Amino acid sequence: MRAGYNSSPFEIVFLMPTFSSSLISWQREHGRNDLPWQGTDPYRVWLSEVMLQQTQVATVIPYYLRFVASFPDVVTLANASEDEVLAHWSGLGYYARGRNLHRAAMMIMELHGGQLPQQYEQILGLPGIGRSTAAAICAQAFHERRAILDGNVKRVLARYCGISGQTSKRAVEKELWRQAELLLPDNDVATYTQALMDMGAMLCTRSRPKCSVCPVQDDCIAMQTGRVNMLPTPKQKKAVPERTAAFLLAISDGKILLEKRKSSGVWGGLWCLPQFDEEDDVQNWCALHGIEPDKLIRHPGEIGEPADSKAQCEALIPFAHVFTHFKLHITPLLLYLAHKPQHQEEHVWLEVDQALQTAIPAPVRQLLSRLANL
Ligand code: ADE
Ligand code: SF4
Repeated sequence: MRAGYNSSPFEIVFLMPTFSSSLISWQREHGRNDLPWQGTDPYRVWLSEVMLQQTQVATVIPYYLRFVASFPDVVTLANASEDEVLAHWSGLGYYARGRNLHRAAMMIMELHGGQLPQQYEQILGLPGIGRSTAAAICAQAFHERRAILDGNVKRVLARYCGISGQTSKRAVEKELWRQAELLLPDNDVATYTQALMDMGAMLCTRSRPKCSVCPVQDDCIAMQTGRVNMLPTPKQKKAVPERTAAFLLAISDGKILLEKRKSSGVWGGLWCLPQFDEEDDVQNWCALHGIEPDKLIRHPGEIGEPADSKAQCEALIPFAHVFTHFKLHITPLLLYLAHKPQHQEEHVWLEVDQALQTAIPAPVRQLLSRLANL
């Protein structure tokens, strides 16, 4: 049994360290206490928690700083266009987070007078916020006693409590939530919440955890039973499917063509390059856009603006982009056009520098940066 803080009737206080008290002390001394959203306001805590959902702190910080500089409060965010919001998310991935954040800001204006609601249930009702994120916001912004359980915390608790089984399984997850709630302290929940996250990121890491400097090593079941490397039970590895695609860099008059994606899908609402399943589909695209196929020349040598009215197309070096569920092998096709084609889709022609300021996904940014340096 794990002891709590116990006081005797004679007011002699026995301080038995608990999981939470050990973590809190450790956090104060060794944890991260200078993150830009710490000690700010509920809006910033919310924003940081959403950005941190699938992304590490070091990656998030510059995005967070640019975002709050442009959208310092719920009102500015709600009044911005989705394009502006996604431009600030460009490269961070999981763009549904950005779209949901924007929708939530508009809901907060309508339903809550522009202030992030303080009630857990109301926060949970906002788009893009699940049980753990809502709890993290309540604990950090409102010092409410709420348990969090993200991927890192699952790992910490699976080891500390010696819980085996894949953490994505319902029964295992249920037990982890139960433990997360049992271990909650009565006070200092904000520090405790940060402590759990810092533990997961700094000590109880997926590989080579630093158990020898861990504040709870004496009580950790995985540590005490030599099962640290077995817990949490690894997921069954599925082979990552691989797909191929061609991305069209259509250039005319020094400008590049971008098309807006429909609002669903991994890149929903983002500005992308026209995409084909096969390289040869570029022929169809040209036909559809009124570019005569016989003016299309595969031209593997030096490229440049066509001197005559002919289009020139060249395949560049392929590269891969890894999504959560698949790997995409991308062949960039550089197509110089003497005339801008007819176009049905929502599109823009932009200078490369302007395009880089737009809501584009990471591999498009990579390609455009390459192009800017050609
Ligand atoms: N991951 C999720 N929330 C976090 C936070 N507040 N600090 C560090 N990592 C986190
Ligand atoms: Fe994690 Fe090791 Fe600490 Fe156990 S002792 S909680 S496995 S870091």
